[in-house]
Amino acid sequence: MSIPVVWKTPGEVRAWVRALQRRGQTLALVPTMGFLHEGHLSLMREGGRRADVVAASIFVNPTQFGPKEDLSTYPRDLEGDLQRCGSAGVAGVYLPEPSTVYPPGYQTYVNVEEVSQGLDGDKRPGHFRGVATVVAKLLALFRPEVALFGEKDFQQLQVITRLAADLELGVEIVGMPTIREPDGLAMSSRNSYLSAEERQRALGLSRGLFSAQRLAAGGEADVAKLLAAIRQELVKVQAREDYVEIVDSSRLASLSRLESGAPARALIAAFIGKTRLIDNVALPLGAQALS
Ligand code: PAF
Repeated sequence: MSIPVVWKTPGEVRAWVRALQRRGQTLALVPTMGFLHEGHLSLMREGGRRADVVAASIFVNPTQFGPKEDLSTYPRDLEGDLQRCGSAGVAGVYLPEPSTVYPPGYQTYVNVEEVSQGLDGDKRPGHFRGVATVVAKLLALFRPEVALFGEKDFQQLQVITRLAADLELGVEIVGMPTIREPDGLAMSSRNSYLSAEERQRALGLSRGLFSAQRLAAGGEADVAKLLAAIRQELVKVQAREDYVEIVDSSRLASLSRLESGAPARALIAAFIGKTRLIDNVALPLGAQALS
């Protein structure tokens, strides 16, 4: 395993990307906010299968945090992250300062309209504007053939897919399945905020989603019943619901019934203590195999 090269400025990245292009090599990019876990590493490894070289970025992007959110306490472990990137085959990591990404006088933002609305878009005003802006900047800088993101942030994945298509960035956006702990908890950097007791209660999110998934697989198409099954598990663990919704998987419009062959998704945001967690699953109707 080798420790990846670190770039601090766009100029350093551009020089590296030009050399890569001269060699005719393809690039996969994995943008992250660090405190890397197995979910991030699965994106990096898949990047290595889809392109000649993998690069990552670690940047806790201030524009996607609301004024009362956890920007200043967001977990960080730079040394460990660089080792993890190396073990996942990443060649280089971009580690810009906030003042490099948003220098004084900065005033250009990217707004993806429809899929940024509802769900986290409503609960975290400005969040997707910040995500779309930083991701657009990273894609414009690295010009990768492929960029990989986790399905755990399902709305974010739709926002970025739309952004790459609308701005004709010529990059393939790949969504990768959520990686879970053996007991079902979706991996997230924010799980580190949970006490041991909260960590147990947090299982209510995945239990609720799996319960809805089993019902849908068994033929239950009534969204009200599926939502009730999810909420039952949230109540058991005293989670405070921020939203629970069942939507169509591409436009993220609310559904009242599942239809066969029309992909649907159940999404949760809920607080366990002070920690806000999100999770989601696909809801195939009448499917035999659960994913
Ligand atoms: O999912 C994340 O870690 C972030 O939202 C992203 C995509 C790296 C943009 O800051």
